[in-house]
Amino acid sequence: MIFDPNNLSPGAFYHFMIGVVVPRPIAFVSTVSASGRLNVSPFSYFNAITNRPPLVGISINSRAGGPKDTLRNIRETGEFVINIVNEALAARMVKTSGDWPEEVDEFELTGLTPVPSDLVRAPRVGESPVSMECRLHREIELGDATFVVGEILRAHVSDAVLTEGRVDVEKLKPLGRLGGDGYSVVREVIHLPRPRVERAGRSGGG
Ligand SMILES: Cc1cc2nc3c(=O)[nH]c(=O)nc-3n(C[C@H](O)[C@H](O)[C@H](O)COP(=O)(O)O)c2cc1C
Repeated sequence: MIFDPNNLSPGAFYHFMIGVVVPRPIAFVSTVSASGRLNVSPFSYFNAITNRPPLVGISINSRAGGPKDTLRNIRETGEFVINIVNEALAARMVKTSGDWPEEVDEFELTGLTPVPSDLVRAPRVGESPVSMECRLHREIELGDATFVVGEILRAHVSDAVLTEGRVDVEKLKPLGRLGGDGYSVVREVIHLPRPRVERAGRSGGG
């Protein structure tokens, strides 16, 4: 069977894409408006982009009647926090994703704790095991979506997810997004060392 974006509705092709690009990490993005209103919402079109500088990106779809609250707040302040979603946060994360009016503070709605950040105005989610304070690096318009690139200024990591100073995925218990309303959890990790290939004039990396 062929899935051709020219012959399928955008909705049908979206369902195909989110069903095969899996599992996707989830950025639980906390922001604050210029007037001080808090917001937190999930975005799974999310990934790390570069190490130097440390950039991450999220893609925010357009919404009839104006930008999503997250994008509007990022534009107003130039700042946001990406919180990692673990299994314990799953239900509250999904609740925040409702199409709530802008005056709704999803921290209040779900009982999550806004903790002041060190370097940005947006608070972090106190219950999240890892929070990355970000400054807007650039915004890229891509058709119906805006790709927001953020530079990580500082990360807060709970000691509970560390083993010998490194984040331990079995303690982190990250949630991944699948197609439809499916989510993945990490129950088993396999280790596959990369082949070491010596090549003259090259140092490692990547
Ligand atoms: C797990 C999950 C992942 C999501 N990923 C995205 C995404 O990548 N881009 C997007 O525009 N919306 C995504 N959404 C929908 C937004 O969370 C939703 O539109 C939310 O209401 C936006 O909130 P805001 O208006 O407060 O910014 C996702 C929802 C869920 C539950």
